[in-house]
Amino acid sequence: MSERSRSLPRRSCLSTPGSSDRFLAKAPTATADMSFLDLEDSVAPNEKVAARAKVVNAIRTLEWDDRVLCVRINAWDTPWTYGDVIEVVGNAGSRLDEIMMPKVQSAAEVIAMDLLLTQVEKNAGLPVGHIGIEAQIETARGLINVEEICAASPRLETIVFGPADFSASIGMPVTTIDETIHHGPSTPFSYIFAKILMAGRANGLQVIDGPFLKVRDLDALRFTANISYNYGFDGKWALTPDQALVLNEVYSPSQELFDKSYAILDAYEFATEQKGTGAVMFGDEMIDEASAKIANSFVARGHRSGMARTPK
Ligand code: GLV
Ligand code: MG
Repeated sequence: MSERSRSLPRRSCLSTPGSSDRFLAKAPTATADMSFLDLEDSVAPNEKVAARAKVVNAIRTLEWDDRVLCVRINAWDTPWTYGDVIEVVGNAGSRLDEIMMPKVQSAAEVIAMDLLLTQVEKNAGLPVGHIGIEAQIETARGLINVEEICAASPRLETIVFGPADFSASIGMPVTTIDETIHHGPSTPFSYIFAKILMAGRANGLQVIDGPFLKVRDLDALRFTANISYNYGFDGKWALTPDQALVLNEVYSPSQELFDKSYAILDAYEFATEQKGTGAVMFGDEMIDEASAKIANSFVARGHRSGMARTPK
């Protein structure tokens, strides 16, 4: 299901308010791996219904190259969810890859969305299963249920952390999401990141970090993005095209790491196939099957980001 976009890179996931024709027109010109057109929190309640047609028009008429294209709909506890799906998925055509569900709290919400999408796809003449799902974890309840949520539908492609709503949900004393949320004597983020990452990876999903709101401070963005990159996250939201450029760098392996991973694979193949040994020295490091798995993941990630091995 959702084969086109499932394994495409999502280092930078650019958010665009669906009510703004101006921002919608600019979105495809940004260098971002993914664009999502928002019907949720960046759209005012009295613009929600009108934004649906703007988003459909943008999907159908703008040139989106091969980036992942997604629409964030409104959560099930609002009056807009089913209308968002019927109007947007029903009319956008096959270029729309996914919908993003905000504030997911239970597996049942994802299952209900899967069933609704199946009906809408049939009526719109789309192959059943064409539309993938991204689920945002933004509440304490969602985090507690994240394992069931990640296993709830084969349509799921990513699990996404939403730090702003999440901070509100757990009562963190912050008024914005910037690098300082990771400071202090103890923060809940190691628990949150690890829990979301395990649930996502156990179900073969990409795992994405959410927005950084101090949008002009690109150094602080880089610092903060490095934290989730080092956990193993695949990418992070961008609120501006400049943020996307930083994230494309942070979530790609360096050329040095990419080349070293290839060299490890060469050395391991030589050891196992020519010399018949399972563990071998690579410089001053011992490598074995597990090292080859790590190297393979960097090679795959680098290729997904368009990298090529430096010629020897
Ligand atoms: C994103 O939706 C967030 O709440 O951080
Ligand atoms: Mg949110």
